[in-house]
Amino acid sequence: MFELTEKTMDESKQGSALLADVNTNAHKKFYIESYGCAMNFNDSEIVASILFEHGYGSTPVVEDANLILINTCSIRDKAEQTVRHRLKHFKGLKRRNKETLVAIMGCMAERLKDKLLEEEKLVDIVIGPDAYRTLPTLIAEAQSGQKSVNVLLSREETYGDINPVRLDGNGVTSFVSIMRGCNNMCSFCVVPFTRGRERSRDAHSIVLEAKALFENGYKEVTLLGQNVDSYRWENHDGTEVVSFAKLLEMVALIDPRFRIRFSTSHPKDMTDDVLHIIAKYDNICNHIHLPIQSGSTRILQMMNRTYTKEWYLHQVKRIKEIIPDCAISTDLIIGFCTETAEDHEETLSVIDHCQFDFAYMYTYSERPGTLAARRYTDDIPEDVKNSRLSEIITRQRLNSHTSNLADVGKIFEVLVEGPSKKNQAEYCGRTSSNKMVIFPKEKASVCDFVKVKILSCTSGTLLGSIVD
Ligand code: SAM
Ligand code: SF4
Ligand code: F3S
Repeated sequence: MFELTEKTMDESKQGSALLADVNTNAHKKFYIESYGCAMNFNDSEIVASILFEHGYGSTPVVEDANLILINTCSIRDKAEQTVRHRLKHFKGLKRRNKETLVAIMGCMAERLKDKLLEEEKLVDIVIGPDAYRTLPTLIAEAQSGQKSVNVLLSREETYGDINPVRLDGNGVTSFVSIMRGCNNMCSFCVVPFTRGRERSRDAHSIVLEAKALFENGYKEVTLLGQNVDSYRWENHDGTEVVSFAKLLEMVALIDPRFRIRFSTSHPKDMTDDVLHIIAKYDNICNHIHLPIQSGSTRILQMMNRTYTKEWYLHQVKRIKEIIPDCAISTDLIIGFCTETAEDHEETLSVIDHCQFDFAYMYTYSERPGTLAARRYTDDIPEDVKNSRLSEIITRQRLNSHTSNLADVGKIFEVLVEGPSKKNQAEYCGRTSSNKMVIFPKEKASVCDFVKVKILSCTSGTLLGSIVD
């Protein structure tokens, strides 16, 4: 998977405001700040599109806005606490300008519904992930002093016809949501409650959006869904059925110079068809994000992940057989209910066995209303969770370093994404395997594909120089 700062399927630690000033002549301006996964960031771009249609302009300066939107995440308690802090800050701004409206959108809005409106009076508008088309109506209601809430979930909404406004992108890589919601019921997870039932977006609208990105100079697209392997779109009379493998192929065929990524794969649903399509097309990147969550089958069963450790290892084996140089990354939850020292050891041994190129690692955070919160006690003390987490992080860092060391001396094709954050004389970009590479700028430009020879590395980054 990708760095958090690049907005990933994983929730970002930092909120991010849309940076651009668009529609500068508009007398009404919105400011939008986003938290959570890439799908949430993509939703902010959809909301921006709806607001532009209704005469709003955007501003990167919160004090200049008539409408402040905060797009929120509920995945862990910490994510919600961050949002609460921001809402208190916005409430302070509202005291200075009473006309300013504050809207909470996204997963926390869906989870808490009108609680933030009524109990704490922190916001004027509460809008859930499937209700964004009604935002202009809700704004009008709030302006006339009415209670303004829409958290209805839908079985159909995919926003397939709305062209997201790419306000703060790098102009090189972008995201396209291919589905919404989730039908899995992983016992720890709040997403099925905040995002509703899974539905797949019209395959042709996905291809059109991706094509438009390519025509506008983008060189890479990431197809997004909570469980991309269960993507399945059918036209109204059932004469056309598109699976995820087929969709990948349709997007790959847009142009061989257009890179394709996707996230997230589910170990129970990933099929060989998808692996063969990745192997067939050079422009589909050799990287699969395959969250394991735990290395213990007993814990996986309690998590309701519906696969065993052995099944996961089988899937990793299939990836390596069909796409030998494919990078694999994962997500891990440490300290889930009843996790013993032996379960933890199993996770460590699976990490070593799989040699993940990258991993996102979290301690378990109980979420109200989930199956785990109802069925099990969150009984692992925080200090035990944290010490197990640091052990896992240390081990994974070692494995990432080993994986990076194996790349030293090799030459990779890298897509130049922009200047390196630490040194303006250098560029950063990614390999097909999603590794970040830093190298001197030389003659290259942003958006170029360049060949880079890897000269050294850290556990997180490859360092190299352009070769002809
Ligand atoms: N759909 C993806 C999947 O099935 O793997 C994951 C989506 S979730 C947004 C991203 C990651 O957050 C999960 O893979 C999991 O590791 C982590 N996560 C979800 N709920 C959590 C919780 N209650 N506590 C800690 N981490 C959690
Ligand atoms: Fe959550 Fe599981 Fe759905 Fe992923 S697959 S979003 S972890 S319920
Ligand atoms: Fe994404 Fe967070 Fe919602 S990870 S789906 S924004 S709970």
